[in-house]
Amino acid sequence: MNTKPDDIHRLLKKAVKSQIDIGTKEIIINRNSAKLQINKCDGQTDVLNVASEAELFNQINTSTLGEPEFDSLEAHYDKICNCQKCPLGKTRNKFVYGVGNPHADLVFIGEGPGRDEDLKGEPFVGRAGKLLDKILEAIKFTRDDIYILNMVKCRPPENRDPLPEEMEACSPYLIEQLRLIKPKLICLLGRVAAQRLLDTKTPLGKLRGTFHNFMGAEVLVTYHPAALLRFQAYKRDTWEDMQKLKARYDEVTR
Ligand code: URA
Repeated sequence: MNTKPDDIHRLLKKAVKSQIDIGTKEIIINRNSAKLQINKCDGQTDVLNVASEAELFNQINTSTLGEPEFDSLEAHYDKICNCQKCPLGKTRNKFVYGVGNPHADLVFIGEGPGRDEDLKGEPFVGRAGKLLDKILEAIKFTRDDIYILNMVKCRPPENRDPLPEEMEACSPYLIEQLRLIKPKLICLLGRVAAQRLLDTKTPLGKLRGTFHNFMGAEVLVTYHPAALLRFQAYKRDTWEDMQKLKARYDEVTR
């Protein structure tokens, strides 16, 4: 993974902020001894060895991944499935938690449930979902090999983009799901998921093609299947992204 030195400051700020969000009391970065000390609010201390600044960022974020609060996705689902933290809770039919292999090395993250998903309680079961299945099939995966989830668990009205505050309210759920699954790779489907998770305004076209980092996982960005249904021209790029994803998957799971 290559992290440009220019990006380090921004990445560190982001990583430190995410530590603060989960209740870290203080982070001591000692580059001379290549050690990073994270003092947590519960009085525990993590000391991490770091070889480089890029790794420093990875280490902080891996530590952010931390230990899950729940011992299974089922237990987590039971706790949150009646969520009313944002207005989408009032208008949903079903809470769309996620589907697939709870130990998957690869997780796909979409935007939010549409009409079909809201009725069934499962992500990507409508037209875009059928196309996602075909894409998966082309790289020799089924839904049982991977895990699929969304930035928000409840359907935004009229299929609009989820609002920043809705994604903010839902993000602890996504983080806990990732802590439980511990994927090595994440594929972000579309601009909304990509810009939110990578905390950037960079256009999707520019985010494609290289691996990013989120919570210690390698992240590849590609077009949302719904966009592919509208713009055939994206198919070729998506195919290239999927080849890259599959090749990296084979490497990291070898
Ligand atoms: N689009 C998404 O982003 N997620 C779904 O689950 C369905 C369509």
